[in-house]
Amino acid sequence: MATHQLIEKIAVIKEANPGNLMARHFDAAYFLSLDEHARQSLAEIIASGVENPDSQMGAYAMNPGDYDQFATMLDPMIRDSHGIAAGTAISQQHDWDTGGTRCDLAAIDERLRDVSMRVRVARNVATFPLPGAMSKEQRVAFERVAARAFAKLAEDPAFGGTYLSITPGSPNEIDAGEYERRVEAHQMFKDMSADPYLNAAGISGDWPHGRGMYVSLKEDLLVWVGEEDHLRIMAMQRGGNLSILFERLRSGLETLTNLLPPFATSPTYGNVTSCPTNLGAGMRASLHMKLPGLTSNGTDLTRLKKAAQDLGLAVRGAGGEHSGAGTGGRVDISPSARLGVTEAQIMRRLYEGAATLWAMEQTANPTPP
Ligand code: ARG
Repeated sequence: MATHQLIEKIAVIKEANPGNLMARHFDAAYFLSLDEHARQSLAEIIASGVENPDSQMGAYAMNPGDYDQFATMLDPMIRDSHGIAAGTAISQQHDWDTGGTRCDLAAIDERLRDVSMRVRVARNVATFPLPGAMSKEQRVAFERVAARAFAKLAEDPAFGGTYLSITPGSPNEIDAGEYERRVEAHQMFKDMSADPYLNAAGISGDWPHGRGMYVSLKEDLLVWVGEEDHLRIMAMQRGGNLSILFERLRSGLETLTNLLPPFATSPTYGNVTSCPTNLGAGMRASLHMKLPGLTSNGTDLTRLKKAAQDLGLAVRGAGGEHSGAGTGGRVDISPSARLGVTEAQIMRRLYEGAATLWAMEQTANPTPP
């Protein structure tokens, strides 16, 4: 697309889609002040928001250095998305102190033993471009690096498990049936080439080459390879004890960190991720719980969304991003803040928020399910 066409197209998006942060913060004068090469790079970073006007963020970094090189445009977008005012210093501290076993929802109500809990962190290694700019060879080479680390991890009896690849011809390759079963079990990621945001960013390129998943023996620690970030490391459990869940992730992450090349980090934004929404702790912690009273049996999320927002939580359907509530009002709740909050703060916010919503649910729906 010629430069003037791009500029005009973004102006139209800004008008029609005021929620698109890329369009909101795009400044034609800044774009034109860049040399040819930098302009091309920035055009690639914002391509997803240009091709998908309904984007909320509308940009993905292609290289870890992009957040510094293009800070003039990206920093205001990051602040807008994370609610950090201009001029306020961004400081990303890390603290995994889970305080023993204190954050146990089942101690509040035995019925909460049933919630399914998941916490993941996004990590990218500093020695490869981010997924949007990787060649097929780099995707496969990175997968080999990761598979070696998982082989070592599996020797540790605390983890065990195996690496499952969907790269055609990989020594760890699984068949289509097993892939489907793992997707249905909410372990493996879905076909990325069906996602228009990832397609426009090149992140789903060369699908399914270089993609796969490590799964621990107990299936409570999973690592996605080659999705939106090089690695998505996650712990998954039932039981309601968030402290135990977080500790599982912390120890898995620590062990893996020592087996992998150094991760890309930024002094300002903490862990570097493809999507600016995930910067900071790079963490998303969520609970799937049934809140039929607050959602009119899953038909209307308006009331719940409002209540959750006041608690610093976001609500989405139990079927993943952009999905509706599941049967019985099953929803996914998760702390909204990612940047400038520690891991321990995220855990506490989820624990306290879930406890409050559960108490509200009891008065909204006095008959136990
Ligand atoms: N690129 C999409 C948008 O701008 C998704 C952003 C957040 N989700 C994500 N998976 N990174 O709306």
